[in-house]
Order: sequence, then structure tokens, then C-alpha cells
Amino acid sequence: MKENIIPHSYQVSKADRQTNNKHKSLLLWFTGLSGSGKSTIANVVEQELYKLGIKTYTLDGDNIRNGINKDLSFAPEDRTENIRRIAEIANLMVDAGVVVLAAFVSPYKKDRENIKKIVQEENFVEVFVNTSLAECERRDVKGLYQKARAGEIKNMTGISAPYEAPENPDIEIKTEENTVEEAVSKILKHITPKLSL
Ligand code: ADX
Repeated sequence: MKENIIPHSYQVSKADRQTNNKHKSLLLWFTGLSGSGKSTIANVVEQELYKLGIKTYTLDGDNIRNGINKDLSFAPEDRTENIRRIAEIANLMVDAGVVVLAAFVSPYKKDRENIKKIVQEENFVEVFVNTSLAECERRDVKGLYQKARAGEIKNMTGISAPYEAPENPDIEIKTEENTVEEAVSKILKHITPKLSL
């Protein structure tokens, strides 16, 4: 089937869309434990980019796992498929000229490597939101750690499923040492040059 799929060549290119938007597009990927602060930081980064007139969109568990990926569980193979689909969606959005913010636990190194292949390395910025399990468990915003400790949730990252921390992230945020504002300014400093045409 695949050999019969021949891409049509469209007259409006990614470069044209970026020129129209007056900025480049990229994928800003936040990885970290549940409750580490990924969505909180992504949300403020998006607000700042929005103020600058940059076209953005945030992908997170709420809009992905309740919709296109609602058939997927937290078993390792389903997490791999979760991340693969998100990367493909993000790739289309980057092609559309949008700065995509994605906040997912994405615990497996090989899955994060695969994102890089799908969107291409130069379009990918990996942000490791490094918050200790002890602190995530103390916050337990969604009450999931308590349930996992009680054996009510299987495959809980950090408790009964692994988290493979990035060894060489583009940006590392230590939420126990830095404020949200500091994290946001570190991220903006890193991506601003990448957004200019
Ligand atoms: S991923 O591992 O496949 O990347 P994803 O980011 O989509 O995970 O979803 C993680 C969110 O789902 C967590 O923030 C948490 O709210 C919720 N969740 C429910 N069950 C689990 C679980 N077993 N492990 C981790 N997160 C879970």
C-alpha cells in the first residue's frame, strides 16, 4: 500500500507559512514525572509566546488521551504508541508553522529518540522537568501516587513503572530549586533564536 502513496506537491510550503507567521516553528517537548510541573511551565511559556504574537498550540494528556489516543493504556507498548502518534501530530503542526508545546511523561528514552526522528532533530527541543519522585509524591496533585501506593493503579511511573531520565536534554529545569518564572525565562532564552527567520 505504502508504495502507492505519492505525496502531492503543494504550492504553499512550510517556509511560506513561516514567512507569513514571521517566525519559525518547532516542537518544545516537556518530559518528566507526573506532577513534576510540565504542564504548569508549558502553560506559562505559551502565554509569553502568545504575547509576542507567536502561533502556538499545546498538546497534553487532556486533549490527546481523551481523544485520538483514548484507546491507549499505560502499558509500555501503549505508551510507545501514545508518543509516536503525538510526535506525528506535532510534526504536521510544525509543518503548519506552529510552535508546538507537548507535555507528556514520555518515560522511555527510545520513544523520545523516535520523536526526534519523526520531527527531525533541528525542530526538536527537549525540556527535562526534573522534579524528584519524593516531591511529586508530596504534591500528589491528582492523588494518583497515593492510589498507586495502595495498589489501585498499575504501571504508575516512578512507583511501578520506570522513568528513564534524559541524559542530555536541551534544557533542564529543577523545580525544587527554581521558580516557574525562572524556568520560563530559561526556556524562552533558549528558543528565541531558534524562532527567528
Ligand atoms: S505517557 O507515559 O504515555 O507519556 P502521558 O503523559 O500521556 O503518559 O499521561 C500521563 C498522565 O496520565 C499523568 O500525568 C497522570 O495524570 C495520568 N496517569 C494515569 N495513570 C498513570 C500511570 N499509570 N502512569 C503515569 N501517569 C498516569
